[in-house]
Amino acid sequence: MKAIASAPAKTILFGEHSVVYDEPAIAGAVNKRAYVEITKSDRDKSILRSYDLNFEVELDTKHKKYILKKGKPGIIRYILEALNRVHDHTPIEMTLSSSVPIGSGLGSSAAVTVATLAALYRYHNIRFNKKSLAHDAHMVEQAVQGVASPLDTLVSTYGGLVYLSRNKKVEHFKVNFNVPFVVGYTHKHGNTGKIVKDVRNLKNNNPKIINPVITSMGNLTNYAKQAILKGDFKKVGELMNINHGFLDVLGVNTLELSRMVYVARGAGAIGSKITGAGGGGSIIALCPDKVNEVARAINKSDNVLKIRFTRKGVSSRVYE
Ligand code: MEV
Repeated sequence: MKAIASAPAKTILFGEHSVVYDEPAIAGAVNKRAYVEITKSDRDKSILRSYDLNFEVELDTKHKKYILKKGKPGIIRYILEALNRVHDHTPIEMTLSSSVPIGSGLGSSAAVTVATLAALYRYHNIRFNKKSLAHDAHMVEQAVQGVASPLDTLVSTYGGLVYLSRNKKVEHFKVNFNVPFVVGYTHKHGNTGKIVKDVRNLKNNNPKIINPVITSMGNLTNYAKQAILKGDFKKVGELMNINHGFLDVLGVNTLELSRMVYVARGAGAIGSKITGAGGGGSIIALCPDKVNEVARAINKSDNVLKIRFTRKGVSSRVYE
């Protein structure tokens, strides 16, 4: 028997960091996915391998440990946490593949967590639905990272473009926001937990300055929701640029991110901003008519991906 599952990566369009303070956010699943396959092992050990990420480990699922056989398994802690919660620790062979480049900042941890849990539930014939899966995946992310909003795992589970309101209500956009984006990344990772804490310190030390900024970021996200519903790309771009300025105020910008943001605008993007936690990671540029020009300009010194939002969320099945 073979259980397989896949889940999309995501990108945050509006609301990173302010979402931690219960402000709204908009994020979307993108057309890059993580795939997990689980079969019973004939050996007495559990193995996890990834051909395209080029690593292999022997898993100790009971103690959340592993022995490295080959390569560098970046997202292993999420997989171990998921296995520890769901698996009965009998030997399995697990394969991970991903069309999400490591270091692209597209939330590969959420995609891998959601796909791993869904494959495990299928393997053990445990009933689940999208609501329970998104919840469990959020618990895994929280256990690994210390701090995590439910946004990434929600989007990787449901797919599509999602609006998370101030009172944590999830709305799925019905409109087709099928416009090309370019993501620029440098392979330099920020540590999300640390960056979130740094923002909290800045906010606590300067409440009269930073609190209104966070509220403005929330208001901006609500304007962006209206602009998306109207298909007003120009407005969405303008709001992305303002949002980038706010993220700079929060101290999560870097020289590399700034460079990519302004290179993208110079090459014709109508909006560009940091996406995700910042401090490394990636930027997103909205460039409906200039996708190749923007991609080429960023690619002179950094890495690029052309992406589109997708409605396809998690998918899983079992082969007997
Ligand atoms: C990270 O992808 C987004 C942050 O808002 C943190 C979170 O929401 O957990 C920075």
